[in-house]
Amino acid sequence: MKNLGSSSKSKINPKSVVKNNNKYVQSRLQFNSNKTSRKSNLTKCEKCGMLYSINSIPDIDSHKTYHTMHLSGHKWAKTWGSYIEGPKLIDQKITPPTSSSTSNDSTYTSDLQSKNEYVVVVRPQFPKEVKAASELMSVVNDELNAPHNENDFWATVDGKGKLFLYIKDDRAVGAISVEPIDSTRSRWMVYENKSIIDHIRPHFKVGISRIWVCKEHRSQGIAVKLLEAARTNMNPSRTMQRWELAWSQPTESGGKLASKYNGMKHKSGKLLIPCYI
Ligand SMILES: CC(C)(COP(=O)(O)OP(=O)(O)OC[C@H]1O[C@@H](n2cnc3c(N)ncnc32)[C@H](O)[C@@H]1OP(=O)(O)O)[C@@H](O)C(=O)NCCC(=O)NCCS
Ligand SMILES: [Zn+2]
Repeated sequence: MKNLGSSSKSKINPKSVVKNNNKYVQSRLQFNSNKTSRKSNLTKCEKCGMLYSINSIPDIDSHKTYHTMHLSGHKWAKTWGSYIEGPKLIDQKITPPTSSSTSNDSTYTSDLQSKNEYVVVVRPQFPKEVKAASELMSVVNDELNAPHNENDFWATVDGKGKLFLYIKDDRAVGAISVEPIDSTRSRWMVYENKSIIDHIRPHFKVGISRIWVCKEHRSQGIAVKLLEAARTNMNPSRTMQRWELAWSQPTESGGKLASKYNGMKHKSGKLLIPCYI
């Protein structure tokens, strides 16, 4: 994931703490700021990482909202988003990395809805769902330390990308945003040392801009289901192979997920991850 500074837009910004009109600043700028902490009597939540004042009611409210989203996702109405049909993984196990390009071990199931678990794609023409999704993505960007101004590709009608959300018990608990890429941006990355192989130009089709699952729902196979939803729904005319989904500067946990989901064993024995720059 990219690690650049950004302008951000969040609801979480009690004026008592930050004198700034930028709504999402508090949760981002005040992380790890021990100096501010000493001066302003701020406390840092160990679970969500937010710094806030325990003496300020707006701060406490803002922390509550942020904390809940970070740990449990964002409330999601049943009418929001377009339901995704198609392959879903029944069991969450992933086959070991292989050099075969046809390792699609998805099986079909329709049990997600009956469990109140399903995947939707966010529709840019519906402002309420775009707003809720943007609020969730702000928490995602905070955790990834990623720019907050990169939503247009999924949030606007002209955008070429998509945002898929995993809904569980009326909350959006996971997200993947994807965008089309071409071979000029496609590279293999050696998993063990993160080096980019520059002299080969593979042709990956889709870049994973963000992937995230709220803390309470990790290690339940949700990220893999989101990856599968993106793989099978991004291009309606052709289902991609797993290796055609490329990662952008994966985090440590993202790298582990990538190594399991679509790492490819090279004949040298090295594990390669599809990436884009
Ligand atoms: C990375 C992340 C999306 C994984 O979500 P998840 O729903 O917990 O992942 P899954 O349960 O689908 O994991 C599938 C497999 O990937 C591997 N994996 C995923 N996260 C891992 C981790 N933190 N450590 C080790 N292996 C991991 C495991 O092999 C796992 O299968 P297993 O549990 O049967 O061993 C989640 O940890 C997250 O949101 N992290 C913070 C944001 C982030 O770093 N995103 C990645 C950006 S590139
Ligand atoms: Zn918290």
